[in-house]
Amino acid sequence: MRIEEVLQKFLDRLTDSKVKEAMSYSLMAGGKRIRPNLLYEVLKGYGKNESDGDAYAAAIEMIHTYSLIHDDLPAMDNDDLRRGRPTCHKQFDEATAILAGDGLLTFAFETCANANTPAEIRVRCIAMLASLAGADGMVHGQDLDMNESAQSDWDYLKQVHTYKTGCLLSVPMMIGACLSGQSEEIIEKWHQIGNAIGLAFQIQDDILDVQLTAEQFGKSNSDERNDKVTSVTLLGMEKAEAMMNDLYTQAEQSIAQMPEFDGTQLISMVEQIRSRRI
Ligand code: IPE
Ligand code: IPE
Ligand code: MG
Ligand code: MG
Ligand code: MG
Repeated sequence: MRIEEVLQKFLDRLTDSKVKEAMSYSLMAGGKRIRPNLLYEVLKGYGKNESDGDAYAAAIEMIHTYSLIHDDLPAMDNDDLRRGRPTCHKQFDEATAILAGDGLLTFAFETCANANTPAEIRVRCIAMLASLAGADGMVHGQDLDMNESAQSDWDYLKQVHTYKTGCLLSVPMMIGACLSGQSEEIIEKWHQIGNAIGLAFQIQDDILDVQLTAEQFGKSNSDERNDKVTSVTLLGMEKAEAMMNDLYTQAEQSIAQMPEFDGTQLISMVEQIRSRRI
């Protein structure tokens, strides 16, 4: 996969250290690479080259990986297994895992800042990435997630899902559109499509957390142990599956309607995500 080589090439630029080793351990542990591939598919749908998006695709995967390292820490979900391996803090130690997350987050922005993109577009992409990853984006979702309670209802959980998962699935499509010279109005449409995919994806994650063993899933299924309110506990399995399917279908229909965009490949990628078993 293109993104594997791209990530390795960027990592190679860092000086060897224990933190770099931990960053590399988590970043290069596999993972489905959905976010970078969403960016590449949007670029290709607009007739652009994947290479135009390499730095941004890598940056988004770095930020996603940092979010997983921190999500697994004892202060958050307290998990031992991630991407089929011991979590970063289990393999190293908590301080190193915190620093590996910090290192990935910071390196993501350095990577984008040095991208070979016209300055105005580059700054716009970096601003979107910061906004969707930060305290008004994914970080906000993780905060809402940590503060949920047995009283939290579906409206609350929808917000959690949209922020903690939707934001990092929207931003690659928004950046793909921005790099393709699309307007703010079109970028906002990609944001909405990403929100639908994000909500569907997190409902599916909650479903798989119940259905799969940790070994099959490649990560600890800790929702029950952590007494989490999830799509399955609030909606029930059947309704959760129906809602997930509706959202993926809605996203596919919106993609098919995007002007001057060939959505064939992206729609088949969404279909693959819908039928994922990990
Ligand atoms: C896991 O994301 C976290 C969620 C938002 C559910 P992925 O399922 O994309 O994890 P990797 O990247 O494949 O490990
Ligand atoms: C985490 O959601 C989403 C982010 C890391 C932003 P979960 O806590 O459900 O993700 P998993 O199940 O550990 O991958
Ligand atoms: Mg979590
Ligand atoms: Mg978790
Ligand atoms: Mg989960």
